[in-house]
Amino acid sequence: MCGIVGYIGNQQAYPILIKGLQRLEYRGYDSAGVALITDSNDMVVYKTKGKVSDLEDFVQSKDVSGTVGIAHTRWATHGEPNNVNAHPHYSQSENLALIHNGIIENYAILKEDLMKRGYTFKSNTDTEVLVQLIEYVKVSNNTDIFHAVQLALTQVIGAYAIAVLERNNPNCIVAARKSSPLVVGIGDDEFFLGSDASPIIEYTNRVIYIDDDEVVRLERGKEPRITNLNNVEKPHQIMELEMSLSELEKGGYQHFMLKEIFEQAKTVRECMRGRINIDRNTVAMSGIIDNKEKFMNARRIIIVACGTSWHAGLIGEYLIEEFARIPVEVEYASEFRYRNPVLNKDDIVIAISQSGETADTLAAIELAHNQGVFVYGICNVIGSSIARNTDSGSYTHAGPEIGVASTKAFTAQVTVLSLIALTIAKEKGTLSKELFESYVTELSSIPDKMEETLGVSSYIEKFSGIFTYAKNFIYLGRGYNYPVALEGALKLKEISYIHAEGYPAAEMKHGPIALIDSEMPVVVIAPNKGMYEKVVSNIQEIKARKGRVVAIITKGDTAIKGMADYYIEIPETCECFVPLLAALPLQLMAYYIAVVKGCNVDQPRNLAKSVTVE
Ligand code: AGP
Ligand code: GLU
Repeated sequence: MCGIVGYIGNQQAYPILIKGLQRLEYRGYDSAGVALITDSNDMVVYKTKGKVSDLEDFVQSKDVSGTVGIAHTRWATHGEPNNVNAHPHYSQSENLALIHNGIIENYAILKEDLMKRGYTFKSNTDTEVLVQLIEYVKVSNNTDIFHAVQLALTQVIGAYAIAVLERNNPNCIVAARKSSPLVVGIGDDEFFLGSDASPIIEYTNRVIYIDDDEVVRLERGKEPRITNLNNVEKPHQIMELEMSLSELEKGGYQHFMLKEIFEQAKTVRECMRGRINIDRNTVAMSGIIDNKEKFMNARRIIIVACGTSWHAGLIGEYLIEEFARIPVEVEYASEFRYRNPVLNKDDIVIAISQSGETADTLAAIELAHNQGVFVYGICNVIGSSIARNTDSGSYTHAGPEIGVASTKAFTAQVTVLSLIALTIAKEKGTLSKELFESYVTELSSIPDKMEETLGVSSYIEKFSGIFTYAKNFIYLGRGYNYPVALEGALKLKEISYIHAEGYPAAEMKHGPIALIDSEMPVVVIAPNKGMYEKVVSNIQEIKARKGRVVAIITKGDTAIKGMADYYIEIPETCECFVPLLAALPLQLMAYYIAVVKGCNVDQPRNLAKSVTVE
């Protein structure tokens, strides 16, 4: 929900911190700030409402020297976005400066107690309570900052990734995490901190992922010291990341989102690499094979996810039920975690998350584990919390997804779910050899068909501008394409701020058709598969009411061409893999409409890339 960056070493910290914030800005961007201990050994805090670029303007002509500092780009939860509520927050004495990602759930009680002890507060944030608590604990226990953080956090309920700087102590940064992500980068006589690896990777690929209830002290000339809250040393593993810097750049595209839309043929190929064997016409997902008995005997699979990942889960339901004949339920993680679901030991939960840090999905995993259920993760971020908190899993290998609106991660998730469904079907024998092999052959052809589909982007760019007038859209699809309709609607909503709803096409008659008029654009996913004739009828029903139809059709379909106001052709493929192609024009439509509307496509208002708070 926000971005945390820290640096201590022999380089000037400010340039590293600012570039780090820019790499993390997709995580939250309503205000930003930096704390430094300058070359003259003074601790300074500069912070402002707005984006990282506003912070850069703000610090012009200020002293930003020094080789140690922390920085933050915020997505507000407590206290509106403004200069005072921006991070870093000083303690009362201004001897401590702290940045925080997460929510201190018991901040009100802690604040009340601190106020009784004479502490006053400048901001409305929960974060300021935390830094005041640490100062109170430090002073009242007469201890050092590392132990003060340990002791203070034993009183805290909630989620946090924090970093603390102490005045007159330029040799140390203390950090800690619970539920919100935190990564330490290990350089040559220098350390880095980040909410993920993106601000670190250009300096070092050696990282330590901090776990829940761990506190870390980064001190010049020493190894990182990582303990639990009781000051007990915790073993840690230094991982070597494979992420490259070019993956974090726009590569000549106007926005990360457009780059990531056009990367999808490549990322789906990456996702299938080593998992689909064309020569032997077979698939194998190691995570499934390693847990074969569980999947063979699974009585039910429950998919938990949020947002776009939930839409991918709905497609997974169709795939797994059709191929592997295992009952599947798909739940919003935020609902699942609070409704006391009935789970059985032979259930399997599959958690889908691009970031691997979504709080609701993490909580759903914890609930499943508390009831003894096996949890399988599908994540994109290597080493993320969900990847490390599940019993097994598969990475989507889509590479860093910087655009807040998920695109390549979605098609990669659907690809993984296709491979999982095929792997289980092969082991269970629920698909004939011929049908199985035909699906494997078709799936391996999808990246080329995605390249072909993306070839219509200039046509989509041309007509998308027509729809910027619209205040509402309806998206319709049947079967595998009903979740695609939901996903197309979400894309439009989250980057163009136009309201859009996805519906099963047949449901339109049960109410939404009342909305149809000459102003209402209706996007219909109408491949020549599945319930094609029924969808044609739905299009006719819309046209009879003067609705404006944008149809996603199979290449060469002349029937719908004559009915739709606009149509986008996608190559022929089998019904179950249409989502991998139909999603692309919907992503492009949303993108071009948002660009014409002048919206901030990569960092839409109110959104953040990873929802690490409730
Ligand atoms: C998708 O475009 C949105 N950014 C959002 O719905 C996202 O899919 C959701 O927050 C889940 O994120 P996750 O996949 O990282 O768990
Ligand atoms: N809860 C803190 C605040 O509102 C941190 C929010 C975040 O994670 O960005 O300032």
